[in-house]
Amino acid sequence: MFSIVFIIGLLQLFLLASYSEATKPEINPFHFGRTLKIGERVSVTCAVRVGQSPFTFLWLKDGSAIQEMEAITIRNIDEFNSNLAITRLGPEHNGNYTCRVSNRKGSSEQSDVLTMMESGERFKLEIGERVSFICAVRVGQPLFTFLWLKDGSAIQEMEAVTIRNIDEFNANLAITKLDPEHNGNYTCRACNKKRSSRMSSP
Ligand SMILES: *[C@@H]1O[C@H](CO)[C@@H](O)[C@H](O)[C@H]1NC(C)=O
Ligand SMILES: *[C@@H]1O[C@H](CO)[C@@H](O)[C@H](O)[C@H]1NC(C)=O
Repeated sequence: MFSIVFIIGLLQLFLLASYSEATKPEINPFHFGRTLKIGERVSVTCAVRVGQSPFTFLWLKDGSAIQEMEAITIRNIDEFNSNLAITRLGPEHNGNYTCRVSNRKGSSEQSDVLTMMESGERFKLEIGERVSFICAVRVGQPLFTFLWLKDGSAIQEMEAVTIRNIDEFNANLAITKLDPEHNGNYTCRACNKKRSSRMSSP
């Protein structure tokens, strides 16, 4: 008789343990589009799939909590869903975004990288136009050194061309007034201590 009670007691303990394990939040992955352009609008939702409310949602960009940033709005839709919207994409929005959800049992997170331009794009542009390229590092440890090349040689100071490092992950090349001499194959090379990677845009 004593042994049966003992076994039931153990079983209850086990069920209790697996129940509390299951109530930690789990969230669905979210994805930014892959063809985002400057000026566009983008929105992602962090949706809790499993877990016991109440939840606390926290959005991070490159590991830091997102502060009030121009053009970013965070809205908790209901107790299971939080939405992050960027109303006007700019180069400063490139980065690795994370949604972290916590409840009393623990927390979990999902991340996705927002990048505004893919490599290997070709552009048809008119003389006199303004054009701007962003070179965004998607994966890797800072610090990066950015080097811009035109047809294989480092770009020297060129009329109407400005090169600017936006932050530790993004560099910008802008041509304020296109001229036939600007035709060419432009490459951005980002190096950190480990290795370098590049993208080109003829
Ligand atoms: C984005 O951030 C998350 C959380 O810090 C990390 O686990 C993930 O590896 C990062 N992704 C990239 C591509 O850096
Ligand atoms: C542009 O330059 C890069 C780097 O030098 C090279 O890999 C790529 O093939 C070139 N593209 C064209 C279209 O010439």
